[in-house]
Amino acid sequence: PPNGYIRPAGSPFTVIAHRGASAAAPENTLVAQEIARRGGADWIENDVQPSRDGIPFVLHDGTVDRTTDGTGSIRNLTAAQLKALDAGSWFGPHYVGVRVPTLAEQLADLRTRGGNLLLEIKGRHTRDEVATIVKVIRDEQMAGRVFVQSFEVDALRYTRELAPELPLGLLRSNLDADPVAISKELHLTAYNPDGNALLARPEIVAPLHAAGVAVMAWTIDSAGLWQRLERIGVDGVITNRPAELVGWNAAL
Ligand code: G3P
Ligand code: CA
Repeated sequence: PPNGYIRPAGSPFTVIAHRGASAAAPENTLVAQEIARRGGADWIENDVQPSRDGIPFVLHDGTVDRTTDGTGSIRNLTAAQLKALDAGSWFGPHYVGVRVPTLAEQLADLRTRGGNLLLEIKGRHTRDEVATIVKVIRDEQMAGRVFVQSFEVDALRYTRELAPELPLGLLRSNLDADPVAISKELHLTAYNPDGNALLARPEIVAPLHAAGVAVMAWTIDSAGLWQRLERIGVDGVITNRPAELVGWNAAL
């Protein structure tokens, strides 16, 4: 059942670390992942896109400009070029030399150290590109610990065709008129809306739960909003401050 899968026993909701512990360390890096893991996050969230030569890397933006010392579109850079970038110095001097991880490196790290991944397929992907992501998940033997989400309906359809064992979440900035209908159409395990949009229409949670669909809200960093989300029955919260949310959970 989706809620048992997503929500740990005894916890009001699952703590999902947005791009790792991204308020404390450079986003989407293994050090941000480790800080989130040690802080007790249940899941790490990331963003996956392919290099020019088709290797899935963990990066949010379409370009490397903001979060590395390089420039250009990730899809125009080879894996070797991406591996040479510094993805830490922009965040602070303690992080000089931190790299942009490949998806395989991130999954290997989670497999050996522990943790689950909410894998966002970021931006439009071809079926073959999704197939490569699926192959990496299977090669790393992480199919039981990965949850796939995307704003891109095509990416979710491809994932379902290629890997029916992977649970799916649909990301939405604006809520659908009928969230249950699209959840059924796409065989979703979770419907993952912008948290503020959800708080404006909390009545969508009950019918989603009745349809067996969990709700994970993003990206919420304040205790006041965590409390409101908990009151409306949200299953998982995606946050830049996972250790604080773990502490908030424990204090209930
Ligand atoms: O996990 C949801 C959230 O990450 C979606 O927005 O832009 O941070 O990928 P974005
Ligand atoms: Ca994301």
